[in-house]
Amino acid sequence: MIRNYIANSIVAKLWLTIVTMVVFVLLVLSILLQQFFDNYVYQQQARELARVADVVESLVEVRGAKFAKSVANELEVVQNAEIRIAVPLSADQNLAHSYRQFPPDIRRRLDAGWPVSIRSRSAATDTVSVYQLVHVHRQAGLIVVRQQMSVLADAISRMRNIILFATAIGVLLFTGLAFVISKNLSRPLVQMNKVAEEMARGDFNGRIDVVTNDEVGRLGRTFNALAGQLKRTIAALSMEKEQLSHILSSLEDGVVATDLEGHITLANPPALRRLATALLAETGEAASGRLPPSMHKLLATVVQLNEPIVRETMWQGRHMVITMRPLYESEGSKIRGMVAVLRDVTEERRLDRLRKDFLANVSHELRTPLSMMQGYTEALLDEFGDDPVQRRELTQIIHDETMRMKRLVNDLLDLAQLESGQFQLSLCEVELVSLAHRVHRKFQTLAAERGVDLNLAACTEAVVVLGDADRLEQVLTNLLDNALRHTPAAGLVAVDVDRLDSHARIRVADTGSGIPEEDLPFIWERFYKADKARTRGSAGTGLGLAISRQIVLQHGGDIIVESAPGKGTTFTVVIPLAQDSGGVHNWSGDTGNG
Ligand SMILES: Nc1ncnc2c1ncn2[C@@H]1O[C@H](COP(=O)(O)OP(=O)(O)OP(=O)(O)O)[C@@H](O)[C@H]1O
Ligand SMILES: [Mg+2]
Repeated sequence: MIRNYIANSIVAKLWLTIVTMVVFVLLVLSILLQQFFDNYVYQQQARELARVADVVESLVEVRGAKFAKSVANELEVVQNAEIRIAVPLSADQNLAHSYRQFPPDIRRRLDAGWPVSIRSRSAATDTVSVYQLVHVHRQAGLIVVRQQMSVLADAISRMRNIILFATAIGVLLFTGLAFVISKNLSRPLVQMNKVAEEMARGDFNGRIDVVTNDEVGRLGRTFNALAGQLKRTIAALSMEKEQLSHILSSLEDGVVATDLEGHITLANPPALRRLATALLAETGEAASGRLPPSMHKLLATVVQLNEPIVRETMWQGRHMVITMRPLYESEGSKIRGMVAVLRDVTEERRLDRLRKDFLANVSHELRTPLSMMQGYTEALLDEFGDDPVQRRELTQIIHDETMRMKRLVNDLLDLAQLESGQFQLSLCEVELVSLAHRVHRKFQTLAAERGVDLNLAACTEAVVVLGDADRLEQVLTNLLDNALRHTPAAGLVAVDVDRLDSHARIRVADTGSGIPEEDLPFIWERFYKADKARTRGSAGTGLGLAISRQIVLQHGGDIIVESAPGKGTTFTVVIPLAQDSGGVHNWSGDTGNG
């Protein structure tokens, strides 16, 4: 545990290093001191003993060995030493033996008259012996003064204790000091570590308190600057990312990015929706988040060609334009995926087709009367010019065709104005029951001619709406005209006018040919005719219902159709009742009574 703590803490490491260094220095110091002291004491003792030996030598030389011995005995007590005198040398066998055992250089020094000190140390004893050679009557003798070193052991051990004590005090002192220093040094580092960990967790608000101006302080300042910069960069990045995702999600076009394997890395909702549909259609899988096989093929092509491609395909009956371009690694030209834009151009294609159809239809509708007029005028110019009856007949046809063309052009103009919202309705209160009666009367002769029963069932009271009387009559006229035209003899066309809560309702029902169900959505389009072959020529142009619908819409109402082929067709028009007619109240009162 302690090892772990030391390994993980810079404070502990610094402290341990400093304390180890201090202990080591003090230890070396104490050893050196002890040695020096020991040596010093030995030197001093040897010098002292040499002096004693010197005195004894003088005594031996001047007063003889005997006297010297007796003085030496006194001196032994005083000096706490052992003094031995061998004159001549052979007088003391031990000493003579020792002398012979001396190495040559010591013997040379002794022979030259110098005292020689020798220290003999064993586990039990530590003695200093000083040898001195004397000459009495040409006879050589030897003096030895010997003393125990142990007399100084006390002093040395005290000194050692002092050194130990000093070491202990030093360690304690330096421990505290090292702790304070390392703590101060490492505090910013520890703080930096904490803040860095917070940053790794995504919190960039932590800062380090910089108090010093040294390297650690500067590091702390740099660290703070770095954290600030990082925070700003990340904020800018996430803002950009959010902006991008907002832009992507508000796009109508689908945008999708994938890696090389086709895993989707980014996609907006329209892309996800379209890809999921395509995947379901192509593989039968309902999993979202994968590219459909057709897109995989495109991806492979893009990777192979290494350039953007544009393809137009049909997905579930919708025209899609797919623009796919390669994505590169940030450094270099290695492809890492692709980004594709999926654009639904169905509406554009439809409008395109409508425009072309419109042009074709207008040209076609104009060509028929024009070629007829051309034929008849040529006839007039050539052969029939002289016969007044035939001329009149031909002129009448030309006039009819001109009227037809005029009607067509007028209808087109009306429709264009109605669709662009420029058409001005001259609004006034229109009573629909009388209007229905008028139109009913208008068509009675035609109905009788065709053998069709034309019925009108109108509400007994006034049904008043705010509208343009001529335009509303045009709507009803067109509906009745259509009904009569598509109902065979012995059929029935029924008109009824009624009022609902807040709306007037006109219904025109016939028992005619009906309209195929798949054609129903298109009958409101310009130039639509269910059976082109039959109605071409003297019959309508296919603009009536388109105009009628626009007129009804302009009145704030609606028009719907129900039809079954072979059984008949019913058109229903509803238009809001005029507010101040009071009809709503009266009418609800009537139902209450009835
Ligand atoms: N009551 C109906 N029964 C069967 N088909 C109808 C009926 N009303 C309209 N249609 C079909 O809808 C087509 C469009 O009608 P619309 O009134 O717009 O044109 P039109 O009658 O042919 O020409 P226009 O009204 O301009 O003279 C008709 O050609 C016909 O095929
Ligand atoms: Mg019509």
